[in-house]
Amino acid sequence: MSWSFKKFDVLPEGKFLLWEKLLELRTGIQLAPQQKILLQTQIAIRMRELNISSYDEYYEQVKRNDKSGLVEWQVLVDRLVVKETTFFRHRPSLEYVRQHLKNTISQRDAEDSFDIWSVGCSTGEEPYGLAMIANDCMEESQERFYFGVTAIDVSLPALSVARRGIYKKRSMSFLTDVEREKYFLKQSDGQFEVVSQLKKRVCFSQANINSLSVAPIQKMDVIYCQNVLIYFRRWRRREILNQLVERLKLGGLLIIGLGETTDWRHLEVQRVDNDEVQAYIKSV
Ligand SMILES: C[S@@+](CC[C@H](N)C(=O)[O-])C[C@H]1O[C@@H](n2cnc3c(N)ncnc32)[C@H](O)[C@@H]1O
Repeated sequence: MSWSFKKFDVLPEGKFLLWEKLLELRTGIQLAPQQKILLQTQIAIRMRELNISSYDEYYEQVKRNDKSGLVEWQVLVDRLVVKETTFFRHRPSLEYVRQHLKNTISQRDAEDSFDIWSVGCSTGEEPYGLAMIANDCMEESQERFYFGVTAIDVSLPALSVARRGIYKKRSMSFLTDVEREKYFLKQSDGQFEVVSQLKKRVCFSQANINSLSVAPIQKMDVIYCQNVLIYFRRWRRREILNQLVERLKLGGLLIIGLGETTDWRHLEVQRVDNDEVQAYIKSV
């Protein structure tokens, strides 16, 4: 039987639990029981590619703390995370960022930079969207100010797509024609490339929000984290949100997905009174 047709035994429950634990320990992502099939399929595909026939052997390879183990882990994680995204996925949240920026521009010193953080940025649509908003505000403002968007994700392949900044038209269906024409250049193959003026405002790097305490990131004016925490246990969501609050400047805005957490409070932030967004301002 050739490898491409080789069938693997069903991943036994005990082994599934080991993989599930490893994934959660390293990324925070919690697999639901019904995702066992996804995990098993992705592991089997990878084993076939590597010509490995035993789950145990592959598990040991992934767990190895050397270069090959880390590389293999990266490959597998990329296949297990949900990377779905699109430009202006939740327009009310982005419009709230625009409003926040407009309201606070006049209170800033000219030399202050405006720092935005996109947490779990996937293939880049979210941070470029944030940069579009900030750029619009900068153009409209009398005062010049510098802004930058830092974008992090755990998936290296997602980050490399993000850095290229070239997208299919279907990922832009929520953009207006004006936005598309202003911020993208149409390629001969029908795809759209983010203009360099915007690209140079966005810095992508690999980081794990499960280990934020070791990430050297300065305080931010806006922290935007949507459709990431939903994959985490509730206690972990609260812990990460607490750490995000620590990275906010006084008066800064934290914006997460609507309903992404319902049982989180923090003494240093106040929830914004707007049903369309889940946003918090740092008040202390
Ligand atoms: C569904 S996408 C959301 C993308 C974008 N924020 C949006 O709302 O459209 C989730 C992203 O979170 C990333 N992610 C998952 N766990 C992560 C972790 N522990 N650290 C950093 N990024 C993570 C995934 O790689 C994926 O790109």
